[in-house]
Amino acid sequence: MVISLMAVTPLPPVAVAEPPSPLNPASEGAREIANLYWVTFWIALVIFLLVEGLLLYTVIRFRQKDPKVIPPKIHGSTPLEIAWTIAPAVVLLIIFVLMVRTMNAAARPPDNAMPIRVIGHQWWWEFQYPELGIVTGNELYVPVGQPIIAELASDNVIHSFWIPRLAGKIDVVPGQTNTMWFQADMPGNYRGQCAELCGLQHANMNFMVVAVPPDQFELWVRRQQQPAVTASGEAAEGEQLFLNGQCITCHTIAGIQAFGGLGPNLTHFGSRQTIAGLMLRNTPENLVRWLSDPQAVKPGNKMVIERLSRDEVEALAQYLSSLH
Ligand code: CUA
Repeated sequence: MVISLMAVTPLPPVAVAEPPSPLNPASEGAREIANLYWVTFWIALVIFLLVEGLLLYTVIRFRQKDPKVIPPKIHGSTPLEIAWTIAPAVVLLIIFVLMVRTMNAAARPPDNAMPIRVIGHQWWWEFQYPELGIVTGNELYVPVGQPIIAELASDNVIHSFWIPRLAGKIDVVPGQTNTMWFQADMPGNYRGQCAELCGLQHANMNFMVVAVPPDQFELWVRRQQQPAVTASGEAAEGEQLFLNGQCITCHTIAGIQAFGGLGPNLTHFGSRQTIAGLMLRNTPENLVRWLSDPQAVKPGNKMVIERLSRDEVEALAQYLSSLH
């Protein structure tokens, strides 16, 4: 496979969520982490000013202006050396205790947490709701105020699951299931990012937590649990292309004969806001662009598609957009 990096036009970032700063926390766990950061920051700032201030003062105050004078030799000061060994040890101990407190607060999931299985792929995220029978890709719907416990797995390399405004990052390791929990206090789109170098498209392994009020979540669940509706018009042509081409070897669409498990489940693809790990908004135009040449949009991704005519690509895009 030839990967042409030069041919890629830069894509404008999809403005689906606020900048994902951990210093702008939107959950209790993320607030604990941000608080710890600020305590450490202020302690470090005070020490920095103290040490640099003393250094500057000493350099200026005790400067020997006469170059011919040989300075006296001093062996050292035992009390001073003991002092500046103990002081950092005490500071580190304080930070250690605060950190263990924060880790405990962040690690304990509430009893009523809803389980979600997260699978890191190259380079996209699969989200399974085992209790609800739903599978999505890159967009994780959660009800506001509901604790979520995420079980993280990878079938390839090590990734790291990070939603900066909602929780700390945690590694996603092949052959091992790590867990973490989070809860969104306010409705909104929270951007997430893979935080462990995992290959060519690591930077575009984005995802989004969509936190909605509980009644909206119920609606979303009911819609997602439906199989795909039978397509009509141009979309029906697209459905035939999907079924007769390579698409079904990798993708699942519930309700038609497509059970592939390598790529994202597309049953309700049309309801997603983005495609390709948040690289593009999910519009028919962007879908045509993606289906015409996925390697030009996201070089190195595992999507394989035969060359299709413009009409065929448009029919396929119509079909996928119709999957609400
Ligand atoms: Cu997955 Cu970086």
